[in-house]
Amino acid sequence: MTMIRDESSAAAVHLLPPGPGVPRTVQGVLALANRTKALTMLRDRYGPDFTVNVPIFGRIVVLSDPDHIRELFRAGPDLADTIDSSLGRVMGPNSLFALTGEKFRAHRKLLTPPFHGRQLAAYRAIVEEEALAEFATWPHDRRFPTIPSMTRITLNVMLRAVLGADGEELERLREMLPPAIRLGSNLVIISVPQWDWGWASPYGRFRRYRREYDAIVDRLIDRAHVDPDLENRDDVLALMLRSRYDDGSPMTRSEIADELITFLAAGHETTATTLAWIVERIQRHPALLDRVVADLDNGSGDLLNATILEVQRTRPAIDSTFRMVTGPSLRIGPWTLPHGQTIVAAIGLSHSDATAFTEAHRFQPDRFLTGATDPAAFIPYGGGIRRCIGAAFANMEMNTVIRTMLRDYVVAPSNARGERVQTLRVSITPSRGALVSVRPR
Ligand code: HEM
Repeated sequence: MTMIRDESSAAAVHLLPPGPGVPRTVQGVLALANRTKALTMLRDRYGPDFTVNVPIFGRIVVLSDPDHIRELFRAGPDLADTIDSSLGRVMGPNSLFALTGEKFRAHRKLLTPPFHGRQLAAYRAIVEEEALAEFATWPHDRRFPTIPSMTRITLNVMLRAVLGADGEELERLREMLPPAIRLGSNLVIISVPQWDWGWASPYGRFRRYRREYDAIVDRLIDRAHVDPDLENRDDVLALMLRSRYDDGSPMTRSEIADELITFLAAGHETTATTLAWIVERIQRHPALLDRVVADLDNGSGDLLNATILEVQRTRPAIDSTFRMVTGPSLRIGPWTLPHGQTIVAAIGLSHSDATAFTEAHRFQPDRFLTGATDPAAFIPYGGGIRRCIGAAFANMEMNTVIRTMLRDYVVAPSNARGERVQTLRVSITPSRGALVSVRPR
């Protein structure tokens, strides 16, 4: 075990989980080469919780013991909260990713209703429409990668359901956002300083995209203000314009712009990747696929839901989420972590925890029908006050897209090896883009 004495206070002794002693660059290279493999190897060697040391982030405590992750998520923001990540800097100072304290709570309160209950029903028709339009472009009886298709569906859904965009603005955002978000994700991953060295530098290019995006959102807000139908609109932008903080004040334009880009960026790639993994998995389990289709034809979606959950368990789009100790120290299980300590809740490792999931390595959607899972260990959307705000939206969207696909198309079974897990982007993607062959039913 690594005992760490806090230099600033001779009295404070912190106990961190054990970890490798090799230099941080070596640990960083291993993590970059294959994060999932590196994390699994470390768990096998040191146990469910361990400490690593990597470039940029420094010392990180990785938790995968489901009970310890539960404790972390239950700790209030005065004990542990989000890290000051480049994600917040890229999205803007008013993004949920960047906000903390009272302002964070006020934003969460205002932004939660658009993604729940009655609102979701209004978005389902948009999802089905976009899915059908995309499926109409699919080749038949020939393998093709589904990630680009799923990404177009989820981006279009976001643009329509979240921004209420149409016409010229919709077209321009469709064109501009994928490269802008890709660039933004790279800036997050490599965490470079925000130097704007002109048009060719990464931040220079990112700022140009951002200025254009802000101008488009400004136009959408101006148009919404004079829209006689604003009261009846369901898009998130309209709901934001109608909402008020507890003191009666409205959201400012920059708050709205930062939160909208946060939803667009956080919501479309994650959902598209999971959709692609669903397609990648089900064709490799033909007996399950037949049962899912029969179940849907009989009017039940239970097995489809269970299948989506099992895909999220075994191929989580986001495999880890970060926290930082904000209190003087934080006790989690046997560990006492110092102020400022970065912690990772290892979603992927928790999902493969052998004590929480019987035969964790096997793809068995039925486990979610029998209730034989530990809810604390299944955390595809994180947890606590920072749990994904779009979780119900993503569930509705994935369910609608796959349901529509299986209603109209036969997915050819495949005995090809499963696609490798790629960890070079924010989301965990299938290495060949989730190849599939379909034909109309
Ligand atoms: C399958 C799809 C998705 C996955 C796997 C996913 C996963 C996650 C995870 C793991 C987190 C971090 C939670 C934590 O730290 O505890 C998160 C946060 C977030 N997600 Fe999602 N997400 C998905 C879809 C969406 C959608 C559709 C939206 C928006 C409509 C969205 C918006 C956000 C936002 C705004 C946050 C930050 C929440 C905060 O800090 O308060 N996500 N998501």
